[in-house]
Parts: sequence; structure tokens; C-alpha cells
Amino acid sequence: MAPRELRIGMVGYKFMGKAHSHAYRDLPFFFDTGVTPVMTAIAGRDEAGVRAAAEQFGFASCETDWRRLIERDDIDVVDIVTPNNTHAEIAIAAAKAGKHIICEKPLALTVDQAKQMRDAVNEAGVRAIVCHNYRFSPAIQYAKQLISSGKLGRIYHVRAQYLQDWIMDPEFPLVWRLRKEVTGSGALGDIGAHIIDLGRFLVGEITDLTATMETFIKERPLGEMSGGLNAKKDVNATGIVDVDDAAAWLAHFDQGALGVFEATRFAAGNRNGNRIEVNGEKGSIRWDLENMNNLQVYLVDDAPGLQGFRTINCTEEQHPFAGAYWPAGHIIGYEHTFINLFATFFQSIVDGTECKPDFEDGLQNERVLAAIEQSSERGQWVQVTQG
Ligand SMILES: NC(=O)c1ccc[n+]([C@@H]2O[C@H](COP(=O)([O-])OP(=O)(O)OC[C@H]3O[C@@H](n4cnc5c(N)ncnc54)[C@H](O)[C@@H]3O)[C@@H](O)[C@H]2O)c1
Repeated sequence: MAPRELRIGMVGYKFMGKAHSHAYRDLPFFFDTGVTPVMTAIAGRDEAGVRAAAEQFGFASCETDWRRLIERDDIDVVDIVTPNNTHAEIAIAAAKAGKHIICEKPLALTVDQAKQMRDAVNEAGVRAIVCHNYRFSPAIQYAKQLISSGKLGRIYHVRAQYLQDWIMDPEFPLVWRLRKEVTGSGALGDIGAHIIDLGRFLVGEITDLTATMETFIKERPLGEMSGGLNAKKDVNATGIVDVDDAAAWLAHFDQGALGVFEATRFAAGNRNGNRIEVNGEKGSIRWDLENMNNLQVYLVDDAPGLQGFRTINCTEEQHPFAGAYWPAGHIIGYEHTFINLFATFFQSIVDGTECKPDFEDGLQNERVLAAIEQSSERGQWVQVTQG
């Protein structure tokens, strides 16, 4: 039987637009999900820009208003790769139109918005996923298997950091990621949201926390709204930075583990240092995105003298997703996390099975983000509302 087609309509076409488009193109090379993604339409506000993106990425058509894309009968899945302040309106409209939804993180600007999005997809009975792509790296999936099977025993510690350095220059302009009305929060929502997701995925729910946030550079040149490293500044005007440059928080997990988290864009030399360590009574795991195929594993029961962290290259057939790619040792990269995420999502549409992280997860992530901001403002421990 010919594979079913899912016709994709994507809104936005820059960094994540390229990453997602690449994943749609590559997915059928590696996974037999029973579904072929068809790159049907892409929406953006600038006609020349969106046309050029459609051509480069391989979309068959384009729209200059995302509402028009959502109205189209030939779109099954709406993929939202625009700045955070647009996610809620686009996702709710897409759900009402009966489309499945792929939405970039963080899900929304506020807990209220995230709730409305969760309710909209539930009411419409459509499928939705939030792009916490790092969960989908084989090493993290394998770590999850080890933890769930009890290999590390009771979990004592979660230690997670997401360290970047790309806005350290005080002359770097006030791009959308530094404007609260567009982004919600700074390093916290942009990269902190990812380590919250990894902590929740590997260990469980965060119940309460105490946090602090800091803005080191409080005023910057205005500049183009592009999110990227090469954004150009306006030499004649400056604006106030109203989001955090760094955030740090201590947290309790529901099964008793203690979490220490840090998200910053001011850690010189750290380009994309997304790291997590979990320590349990029987051992530990460690992972670092910049060396993402490897999982460090320490087991307390190893023979004395032989004890130490071993490096497992998670490219064997036994490692989740890895068997879909190359022979063992032939490593994969950042872009494959998106392919794995889409393969899982499309498979769930075919099978009718649960697919996470869904909008309930996106909402819970948003509750943790909100609690961090509250705690930092109040200087107190804050409970995280549970779903
Ligand atoms: N999962 C990840 O690893 C990851 C990495 C980077 C970004 N993100 C998330 O992806 C989303 C997009 O980030 P990015 O880095 O691709 O941003 P970007 O600035 O590179 O691209 C944003 C795109 O959205 C378009 N856009 C902006 N406002 C719009 C509107 N009102 N209507 C239609 N299009 C609009 C822009 O023209 C551009 O094409 C954000 O939510 C961000 O947090 C996730």
C-alpha cells in the first residue's frame, strides 16, 4: 500500500524553518512511519523572502499570511517556527481548523496562553507536539531507558546547564530574543526551557524551586528583528533589555531528587553547552550536546579498580533511533534530533498512540518557567502547579 501523505504547512522560514525543512526531506530516507511528509506550503510576511525559502527548502507553494495557509484544504499539519509571541494565536487557529500541530518551544509566552493552546488541541482532537528535540537524541533516549529500568536506582541529583555566549558583546543588537513582548523571557525560556524538558523527561516533575535571574547588559543598540548571530545593529538608537541574560535555580523533583539548573548566554567559550548529569544510588549518567552521540555511564557495582565513567557511543542498534541511520560508530548530529521527533510524531498519527512532549508537557514546562520568574522576583521558594 502506498504510504499515506501528510501535507505540511510551515509558518516561518529562518533558523528553525531550515532545520525542520531538512528533517522533512531526510525523514523518508531513514524511517518507514507509514507516512510521507509532503512539503506543501510555507508562510512568511515578505513575499520575496518566503518565495526564496520555498525554493531552497523544497516547498511547493507559499503564502504571505499564515491565516491563508491554515485555511487551505490541502494542509494536514501546521508547523510553527516563528517567534514565541506568535505561537498561541497560530496554534489555536490551526487546531480550530482541524490541523495537527508541530510547535517550537517554548510553547507560549505565559501559562494562560499555554493552557488555551492545550485546551484548543484537546477540544479539536488533533495531535500536537512541542519541539523539545534534545529528548530525541539516541543518548538521551538510552539514558531514559537506563533510569526507567532502575539501573541507576533511586535518583538523588539532576545537574543541568545550558551555556551559550553569543550575546556577550554589549554592541550585539536588541534582537527579538531580547524583547520580552516577543520572547517572554531571555536565556530562561530560550534555553532553560530545554533543560527543564530534559529533567522532566529523565527524572520527573519539578515540585518547587528557588531561582535568581540576572541581566548583565541592560541597554543595547536597536537592530533588525532577526534572531541570529549576524543581526545588524542600528548605530543611532538603543533600547532597554527587559529579559534575563542568565537564570539559575534549585529544584525538588517529585520522587525526591534535588535539581541544580543554570541557563546563560554569558558563559564565554560555551557555544551550545547543553549538559545534564543524573546521579542515582547505583550510578550516574552524563550527556553533553556538543558530544551528543556519547553517553557517559558510571555504575557503582563495577569491580573496584575498574570503576570510572565509561563512554558509550550510542550508535548501536540497541540505542533508540540509532538503528535507522548508519552502521555503529557512524555518528549523527543536531539535525537528526528533529528527524527523530518528526518520525515519532507521524508514527503516532498513524497508530493513534500517545506522542510526547505534547501540549500538556509544553504547559507544564511553562509553569516551571513562570515559577522561576516568580521566585526570582520574590526571593522565595515557589511551588510549581501540577497538571
Ligand atoms: N528546538 C530548538 O532547538 C530551537 C532552536 C532555535 C529556535 N527555536 C524556537 O523556534 C522558534 C523560531 O526561532 P528561530 O531561531 O527560527 O527564529 P528566526 O528569527 O531565525 O526565524 C523566525 C521566522 O519567523 C518569521 N516571523 C516572525 N514573525 C512572524 C509573524 N508574525 N508571522 C509570520 N512569520 C513571522 C520570521 O520572518 C522568520 O522567518 C522560536 O520559538 C524559538 O524559540 C527552537
